[in-house]
Amino acid sequence: MDLELQGRRVLVTGGTGGVGRATVLAFARAGADVVAAYHRDKAAADELVQAAAGAPGRVEAVRTDVTDEDAVAGLAAECRRVLGGLDVLVNNAGVDGSAAAAGLTPQEWHRVVDVDLTGCFLVTRALLDQLGDGASVINVGASVALRGRPGSAHYTAAKAALIGLTRSLCKETGRRGLRVNLVDPGVVDTGDGPPPPVRARIEAMTALGRLARPDEVAGAVLFLASDLSRYITGATLTVDGGM
Ligand SMILES: NC(=O)c1ccc[n+]([C@@H]2O[C@H](COP(=O)([O-])OP(=O)(O)OC[C@H]3O[C@@H](n4cnc5c(N)ncnc54)[C@H](OP(=O)(O)O)[C@@H]3O)[C@@H](O)[C@H]2O)c1
Repeated sequence: MDLELQGRRVLVTGGTGGVGRATVLAFARAGADVVAAYHRDKAAADELVQAAAGAPGRVEAVRTDVTDEDAVAGLAAECRRVLGGLDVLVNNAGVDGSAAAAGLTPQEWHRVVDVDLTGCFLVTRALLDQLGDGASVINVGASVALRGRPGSAHYTAAKAALIGLTRSLCKETGRRGLRVNLVDPGVVDTGDGPPPPVRARIEAMTALGRLARPDEVAGAVLFLASDLSRYITGATLTVDGGM
């Protein structure tokens, strides 16, 4: 299906991870030019650029830390240099965490909230002036944010807060044609998933009886980036197989 994304200029943060990599490749294969931001894993970034060679869209990997204002300003400058502006911003960078609330240290709280929530805010703020009329911002949350999960107060709090961020931002920017939406994946099979008994339990919780593939989350992101969704803003699109 042609989503008419040829020539669109796209930034995907966390572009080298499971969901981000699939999203970057899906955009490039649809003819979009992509900056894929990563944090530490240069080998994964090089592999991604290699994997995208031959796609109609270009992919350039840029190192950043979404929690660091200066690094994010550098990312914004790179987007301007490489793409000359932006049509789609995908705030996908994220880290998970596991700590019961009683033992959840402020350091561990900040490690997760700073990436999953503050990082989304910092990157969006830095890129707002490059996002033209008709542009689309897609934040990546998690469907567990609305259900809760033991040992994940920081992760679920950060991901739930993305709903408020998304809805407020869409109201601030809608009149100039900018749309802001949230994609909430369930559990995605990114290769380093849970051990077999846990996996079976999660699969049993879904209506479809299986985990998501990364490209199935990417599909929802591409839909929200495309003109097919041009009257959708402030929405949360849950991609969890019916959990
Ligand atoms: N996988 C799931 O089951 C699942 C379920 C629900 C929601 N999600 C959400 O989907 C998104 C992608 O998940 P994933 O499983 O694909 O993640 P992942 O494979 O762990 O990849 C995470 C990505 O984020 C980057 N990153 C981490 N910290 C960063 C920082 N401080 N600054 C910039 N980039 C940073 C990583 O770069 P480096 O590798 O270079 O450090 C990597 O590219 C996340 O927001 C996650 O919360 C995932």
